Amino acid sequence: MAVALASVAATTRSILLRDTDQRINGLLAQEAGEFANFEEQGFDPETGRPFTDPGRLLRVFLERQYADLDEELIGLVGEAGSRPTQIIQQREIPVGRPLHQDADARRRIYASPHSTGTLDRPEGEIRWAKVTVARYGGEPAAAFVVAFHPGREQARADEVFRVLLAISGVALLMTTGIAWVVAGRILKPVRLVRTTAAQLTEQDLTRRIPVHGHDDVAALAETFNAMLDRLERAFATQRRFVDDAGHELRTPITIVRGHLELMGDDPAEREETVRLVTDELDRMSRIVEDLLLLAKSERPDFVTPEPVQLAELTADVYVNARTLGDREWVLAEVADREARLDPQRITQAMVQLAQNAVQHTTTGQTIRMGSRSDGARIELYVADSGPGVQARDAEVIFERFRRGTARRGVRGSGAGLGLSIVRAIAEGHGGRAELRTTEGGGATFVLTLD
Ligand SMILES: Nc1ncnc2c1ncn2[C@@H]1O[C@H](COP(=O)(O)OP(=O)(O)OP(=O)(O)O)[C@@H](O)[C@H]1O
Ligand SMILES: [Mg+2]
Repeated sequence: MAVALASVAATTRSILLRDTDQRINGLLAQEAGEFANFEEQGFDPETGRPFTDPGRLLRVFLERQYADLDEELIGLVGEAGSRPTQIIQQREIPVGRPLHQDADARRRIYASPHSTGTLDRPEGEIRWAKVTVARYGGEPAAAFVVAFHPGREQARADEVFRVLLAISGVALLMTTGIAWVVAGRILKPVRLVRTTAAQLTEQDLTRRIPVHGHDDVAALAETFNAMLDRLERAFATQRRFVDDAGHELRTPITIVRGHLELMGDDPAEREETVRLVTDELDRMSRIVEDLLLLAKSERPDFVTPEPVQLAELTADVYVNARTLGDREWVLAEVADREARLDPQRITQAMVQLAQNAVQHTTTGQTIRMGSRSDGARIELYVADSGPGVQARDAEVIFERFRRGTARRGVRGSGAGLGLSIVRAIAEGHGGRAELRTTEGGGATFVLTLD
């Protein structure tokens, strides 16, 4: 704003100065023209004949003229460069020193070979025009000079410039004050957001920013509060996860310690204890492996996709799954196309699903597997003919350490990490894992990758 105001003032000043300049040029040209005319066509009023003496010509002309403000009309007679005879007409010239009192300036103008010019004197600038009278030949020579003192007009332009600058300064101060107050008001809620954010800690995420009105700042506060809600939920989930993991790992430790403390000397009993302890340790190491896998799933390199023939992958998974249990395994269909996915991770997920299917079926029951594609979308599924998943469990079984209510608490069942791994792998591929009900009972788990 300061730059804009200063340039407005400077532009105004230069426009005023240019106007003055043009007016002075016009004035000088007009006066010089009038004299040239008179010199050409004028008659001596006493004789009624053309002039013969340059001094008389100048005197008669100047007697009839009235000089404008800041203007001097002077006739100079005499040898060029010498002190000329002078006839003067002028009005008050308040700025600087008038030309009729400045012999040196007069001599310089009189001697100049040009017909117009600007004379820079310490006492003030003079703009002048000159018409030399040469028609009478020989001596004495003469000249008509019109001189203008632009000082007053220039001073007026400077005055306007200074007034504009002063007004700009006041305007700048006022707007600065107003902007300060307005900016303070606008930033107040932002400051509140900042202080609230600074007060938040991992332990206390309960603080929220009060929301007033419907403006952008209110929207910011709402967004911030929503982010805090998500953070709070995420921290809660994290805490529960750590609690659950601790609990899941402590149980086998307690069991192992109990077995070892109670172990007697009977070889058969010892053998039984070793078997039970090994079982528990296997279970523990499975949980630890699953937890490590889930931790890894948060990393960007969890899934490394490559072009894979779906038919081949489905067949491989099917062959792997068959070894999991004595069931009626059916390869229902295969999608015959290429897809970009991570074959190891997809196999891992499908094996988890097949394991679950085996756990929820008995010998001889059917488990169907397959893959199909629909446009860009690929589906890989495992469908069993077991009891299926209860409606109220459908949402939670994909969460970590969550098992279905039907079998909760039964030792020997899994830790509840399998489906979380399946979901992490699906999401790593930009897809999702879903539960669908199979006609005729049973559960169908589908990996959908777009
Ligand atoms: N095919 C299925 N039929 C019926 N219920 C199932 C099936 N698959 C999973 N579930 C239910 O979902 C729950 C969670 O499964 P998930 O694979 O995550 O854990 P898990 O099998 O209990 O343990 P883990 O896989 O870690 O050994 C299971 O406890 C079970 O209640
Ligand atoms: Mg499982």
